[in-house]
Amino acid sequence: MPSLPHEPVVSSPTTPPAAAKVDLLAVPWFEDERLTDGASVAFDVATAGAIGRARARGEVSGRREELFFTDIVADEWQASRLLLIGAGPRSGLNRRLAEILGGIAGMAARDRRLPRLGFVARGEFGSAGLVQACLEGALLGAFRDLRFKTAPTPSPPVAEIQILADADLWSPEHDRAVTQARALAAGANLARELSNEPANLLTPRAFAERAAALVASDRTSVEILDEDAISKEGMGLLLGVSQGSIEPARVIVMRQTPAGASPGPTLALIGKGVTFDTGGISIKPADSMDRMKRDMAGGAAVIGAMAALDRLRAPISVLGIVPAAENMPGGRAIRPGDVLTAASGTSVEVLNTDAEGRLILADALTLAQRLGATHLVDIATLTGACVIALGHHVSALVGHPDDWVDRVLGAAAAAGERVWPLPGDDDYDRQLDSETADVANIGGRPAGAITAGLFLKRFSGGLPWAHLDIAGTAWWEEAQAWHPKGATGVGVRTLATLALSISDEERESLSGSV
Ligand code: BES
Ligand code: MN
Ligand code: ZN
Repeated sequence: MPSLPHEPVVSSPTTPPAAAKVDLLAVPWFEDERLTDGASVAFDVATAGAIGRARARGEVSGRREELFFTDIVADEWQASRLLLIGAGPRSGLNRRLAEILGGIAGMAARDRRLPRLGFVARGEFGSAGLVQACLEGALLGAFRDLRFKTAPTPSPPVAEIQILADADLWSPEHDRAVTQARALAAGANLARELSNEPANLLTPRAFAERAAALVASDRTSVEILDEDAISKEGMGLLLGVSQGSIEPARVIVMRQTPAGASPGPTLALIGKGVTFDTGGISIKPADSMDRMKRDMAGGAAVIGAMAALDRLRAPISVLGIVPAAENMPGGRAIRPGDVLTAASGTSVEVLNTDAEGRLILADALTLAQRLGATHLVDIATLTGACVIALGHHVSALVGHPDDWVDRVLGAAAAAGERVWPLPGDDDYDRQLDSETADVANIGGRPAGAITAGLFLKRFSGGLPWAHLDIAGTAWWEEAQAWHPKGATGVGVRTLATLALSISDEERESLSGSV
């Protein structure tokens, strides 16, 4: 995969912090940190006692997310700036916190224009899983997007990140963790760049071209379906959503088939690629409509995951499918009450043109089955109802059957992305009954995130299927201590980790389960 311009160089030298040639040393600092402990004393000495004095003033307590910057004055030290990051009680250390601490360090380096960052992953931070989490956090926190600023860049972006761990703790597993973190974070940052791009530039055609340029390689093939090819597939829901726009629809089809992978499962990752969602004739209010330029974040997550998997080599066949369209009002736009025919043959009554994501995904689910998918995961900024249910910290999942749902939840947990399952009971399905057609595209206000999922389930062909609603998690409206404002790249790490988690033995059992 081509390196992104802002991808920092990563290394993990097992040198003591004093010897690290960086501009900023970031050190997690627990609540019970003692200045009698060897490593902590070294930092105090290097800062000529600044840490001890700050502690006496109550400025360094180790409270979570507390920041303390100071100069390193000792001549033997290479770095000139030190950042202590409050890590809370030692017992609270987990993957999530490690990622947050890494993120704070990455953002600090970025905002303070210190191009080389050293993250001191000593002691309890030294497990491979936590090293991976810190590094992912740092790479995500260091991300910045200056593509649309015309003023010359005032400072270099973060150019280099070193993970400094104890030499005697380092193992080949740690090297693998670093490789994974780099690929996953690069995939997420790629997704963020795509998601943040304005819709006048990232049209469905541009989105497709960008995907081809970013992920096509000798391991990953990319095919773009134009409107003729989309019509030939009978994808009437996608064409219906797109027909109000002068921008033609596209479907991006990416494929990785490792040698010896067949016959085995083919995992299809399907991402909503609405490059702008006005709502169509059921138009949205003007307030904050600009955020709907990110309504392709699910599609971007699939592209980012395919890019990461290209580097990490998925053990199984993976298909990435992104239906891309612009949802606009206009003389040719679909109207509420229109009936469209899906690629599956199902007739759909469009009662609200703003429920467009499920329409284009439904046709993409059918296409995935035609292309040989045995297991399905779709990801989408699908419903405002999901934001009401879970807010901005956790994505929702609806899926079937339970063992597939558990596997996707397990991948999310392992990847450090929080996902919560919603009940997908058939009882809710009746809300989608249509007077006129086989199914309606909305199910009323109650349980809106669930009925959106159950609409998709009707197009899953009975295959193991999971739907991730990232409407609340795909971007931050305000910067967090560990994450800048804007797209988060959520889903990239879950999707890639899911594909990587399918081991050889499971390949057998998974192919048996369909
Ligand atoms: N793209 C929106 C969902 C969305 C809302 C994403 C807020 C991110 C933040 C989706 O296409 C939509 O408009 N959904 C409607 C569905 C409704 C008409 C049933 C919604 O949630 O209001
Ligand atoms: Mn919509
Ligand atoms: Zn939408």
